[in-house]
Amino acid sequence: MALLVSLTDTDIQPWVEVFESELSNMDIRIYPDVGDASEIEYVAAWQHPFGEYKKYSNLKAILSLGAGVDHITKDPELPSDVPIVRMADDSLTNDMCLYALHWVLHFHSDYYRYVKQQVKKQWLPQDFVAPRNRTIGIMGLGNIGKQIAESLARQGFYVVGWGANEKPATRNIEYFYGKEQMSAFLNKSEILINVLPLTEATTNLVTECELCQLPKGAFVINMGRGSIINENDLLSLLNNSHISAAVLDVFDVEPLPVDDPLWSHPNVTITPHIAGQSDGKTAAMFMVENIRRIENGEPPFPLYDVSRGY
Ligand code: GLV
Repeated sequence: MALLVSLTDTDIQPWVEVFESELSNMDIRIYPDVGDASEIEYVAAWQHPFGEYKKYSNLKAILSLGAGVDHITKDPELPSDVPIVRMADDSLTNDMCLYALHWVLHFHSDYYRYVKQQVKKQWLPQDFVAPRNRTIGIMGLGNIGKQIAESLARQGFYVVGWGANEKPATRNIEYFYGKEQMSAFLNKSEILINVLPLTEATTNLVTECELCQLPKGAFVINMGRGSIINENDLLSLLNNSHISAAVLDVFDVEPLPVDDPLWSHPNVTITPHIAGQSDGKTAAMFMVENIRRIENGEPPFPLYDVSRGY
């Protein structure tokens, strides 16, 4: 039996070391050296090329390097009966909390202004705003969204959250649910952070109509998926200054094409889909534990649910 490692844009060495030492009865193959395709039982995947999964006739599970699995489910030829296991290693969640905190401070503490002031050699302290007087809105209240919300609340920010379905309330965070409560949520969100997964329901969920409901001068941080926030609508609201600035880690098309106007917009910061990076060693162990569960006849966790779309 074999595990195929296909992790685009990733230093695979720590992953392979863990797989080789922990899965000694398994042949570890590195894509594109697939060998006999019928021997592939597991794929550790990040952006594995479409049309490949269907060649592995004895595939038992696909293990995603990311929490999001749209890089797998968008494959038009994906076999429908193969379980897909999402990544929920703490290192990934923690990295996303740090990314969110970094950019929240960039806007909240006016660092984005000081970068521009320095170019003009301007010594100009901005007014202090206490974190409790700044409202951060988190879209997406799964494990990652909740942890980002809680970590920002711990720093003293006023945090509101929005999700599709009601979940048990937590202390310190005001929650909104469903389409009916989205306006109330957006009206409060001075810094909007998107961590929703990409599904049919979330594709193009945030368009001009939703962005206009943010307070004037709001900031947008998209670290979920590009196709959730309409890029053209975001650009027009940046251009008319309804939105002050945006940080984008994810895009409709990745890598972001060189002629995309987002690259050169003065109030847009671009990062190359790095908001949630995993520690190769612990994330590989997370996959190993799921392979062991499957081999023992137990359900892997967290399993992609077709009906929810994530
Ligand atoms: C990153 O994009 C992830 O899905 O974890």
